Amino acid sequence: SRTIRLAVVPGDGIGQEVVAEGLKVLGAVLPADVKLESTEYDLGARRYHRTGETLPDGVLAELKGHDAILLGAIGDPSVPSGVLERGLLLKLRFAFDHHINLRPGRLFPGVKSPLAGTESDGASTTRRDIDFVVVREGTEGPYVGNGGTLRTGTPQEVATEVSLNTAYGIERVVRDAYRRAQARPRKKLTLVHKNNVLVHAGHLWTRIFAEVGREFPEVTTDYLHVDAATIFFVTQPERFDVIVTDNLFGDILTDLAAAVTGGIGLAASGNINPSGEFPSMFEPVHGSAPDIAGQGKADPTATVLSVAMLLDHLGFAAEAAKVEAAVAADLAERSGTRSTSQVGDALAARVSG
Ligand code: IPM
Ligand code: MN
Repeated sequence: SRTIRLAVVPGDGIGQEVVAEGLKVLGAVLPADVKLESTEYDLGARRYHRTGETLPDGVLAELKGHDAILLGAIGDPSVPSGVLERGLLLKLRFAFDHHINLRPGRLFPGVKSPLAGTESDGASTTRRDIDFVVVREGTEGPYVGNGGTLRTGTPQEVATEVSLNTAYGIERVVRDAYRRAQARPRKKLTLVHKNNVLVHAGHLWTRIFAEVGREFPEVTTDYLHVDAATIFFVTQPERFDVIVTDNLFGDILTDLAAAVTGGIGLAASGNINPSGEFPSMFEPVHGSAPDIAGQGKADPTATVLSVAMLLDHLGFAAEAAKVEAAVAADLAERSGTRSTSQVGDALAARVSG
């Protein structure tokens, strides 16, 4: 028998509600001989208001002792922008060296993409085969907080935000992306950057991408500037298989990816430390949605799909596939409005059946 030591960080807004459903499905899918030991951590806006803390060192040390982390959402309008994002979410990603930020973009059968709208004659177009994965770098780029301000409050005020790119950091994410591409049927990898303008970082990415590529002769590669990539995400998303890109481009592209694959309510992610030195963290791509928090309206599907990624990461491939199949079946049959817990109940029933 095996024990999974799971740290649960529901966080803010709808984070609480969706995480409860994710745990429901996780509990239902695990084999009887696997023991789930989950510990909930109160982090986010409430704790910040109560104690002024975002992520105390003691909590970070405790989190480190877990096999994985399930996170709901971080951010609240009552806290100044950036405090929780930097002090909690990004701190976790950086402290646990989550350099692979994995974000699948898949259009499930039965789900309407805004792209597959209606033709001018009113007949609906067919579903596109959108099935790609964005491998977003998670620990470098403009996210490192390397910058500052000068002459604050004067008309001459200056702010810098310097993107950090190391050969080490680029190489490990690029190699991971090649491996993923190699393992997929189409074996295609696209590098997205902006090397015509961001020449210093861009050329380093481009060079390492080509060098590592020599180890993967079967993988077909191409390169797109990020602005051109946004066009193809809308006009031809089926062309993508695996995409590798920097932290900020990956952030922007994966919101667009979510939009074209049925909305942010379905987009899952994994912040992965492949070495296993630190726990990986799984979270829906969406935010805390304070406007609908506490109303049972949030779709927990993105969290449930993140749970599938978590299972896969921990070596429960069959259980992960079961959760994905349950989501696919649920999406294919969706009609009417259901509450957050009704969706969770339906998915839990499917995986235990
Ligand atoms: C995401 C979010 C975060 C990011 C924010 C909340 C720091 O937008 O997970 O995509 O920019 O990475
Ligand atoms: Mn984002």
